[in-house]
Amino acid sequence: MHIAWLGTGLLGEKIVERLIARGFAVTVWNRTQKKAARLAPLGAKLATTPAEALASAEIVGLTLADAAAIRAVLLDDAEARAALAGRLIVQMGTIPPQASQALAEAITTAGGRYLEAPVLGSRPEAEAGKLLVMAAGPPEDFALAKPMLKALASKIVHLDAIGKAAAMKLALNALIATETAAFAMALAFVEQAGVPTQAFMDILRASALYAPTFDKKLPRMQAHDYARPNFPVRHLAKDARLFAEVAEALGVDAAPIAPARAWLAEAMKKGMAEEDYSAIAECARKASGGA
Ligand SMILES: NC(=O)c1ccc[n+]([C@@H]2O[C@H](COP(=O)([O-])OP(=O)(O)OC[C@H]3O[C@@H](n4cnc5c(N)ncnc54)[C@H](OP(=O)(O)O)[C@@H]3O)[C@@H](O)[C@H]2O)c1
Repeated sequence: MHIAWLGTGLLGEKIVERLIARGFAVTVWNRTQKKAARLAPLGAKLATTPAEALASAEIVGLTLADAAAIRAVLLDDAEARAALAGRLIVQMGTIPPQASQALAEAITTAGGRYLEAPVLGSRPEAEAGKLLVMAAGPPEDFALAKPMLKALASKIVHLDAIGKAAAMKLALNALIATETAAFAMALAFVEQAGVPTQAFMDILRASALYAPTFDKKLPRMQAHDYARPNFPVRHLAKDARLFAEVAEALGVDAAPIAPARAWLAEAMKKGMAEEDYSAIAECARKASGGA
């Protein structure tokens, strides 16, 4: 099965690696060409334009940064727009529901098809084929994309209307932001109170409050090491902002996400935009007078 992939950043790179390892033929395009070129030794074919990549396959996966990037790549470029006819676009980035619906409309107007399929999980999960995929769109489009999605995911849900999977993804990322902020706060608190972190974690792990993400992020927070991110501060800041905007439109009070957003903004001001999002632990420590 031949697939084209647009956007080989942090997530796209590992998705393409996985697809190649599972026997898919993949043509890749990335705005910064050297990031796509890294995949050539593994067997990826390099396209020099989005239109060239689109022309190579019936199914086209996207892991571009945001809706503006998707529009720039697929719709503002006349050659790419013309190449949409007859292609199924499988959009896996995190974008708001309304933007996803607008893309679906523009792509179908151009003769293409559109499935939204955002994911929970990051580079390690993509590499291991253990992403959690939430898809939404017509059943025939889902059926066409399913072999590819199955190669990437340990769980796939399919919802009906486009926008619902995008909304679900924002709700899940709101939990990433708020849970991480709450854990960073509690950790800074016990550190400052002189409570051994090990004792705190022993009780937390045995309790219903525990979330596995706490142990994933604890080593980075303890080592103050946020380099080599799977998911950087700037993307969680984007997603927390999108969640707050959509919540407001839905009439949902998103007050608990505001402090997490403030810490993400503060981390970006400190020059940590490209670091792992657990870097917000440094904001908690500063607020508590710690390291
Ligand atoms: N990383 C994760 O763990 C993860 C998990 C789930 C969902 N996501 C979502 O998936 C999407 C991609 O994430 P990522 O972590 O792979 O991000 P990333 O490393 O920042 O990659 C972003 C990609 O978008 C491209 N891009 C940005 N602006 C563009 C523009 N104006 N025109 C053309 N290309 C443009 C970048 O090209 P250049 O290389 O040229 O900059 C790059 O290919 C985001 O929506 C993110 O929220 C990420």
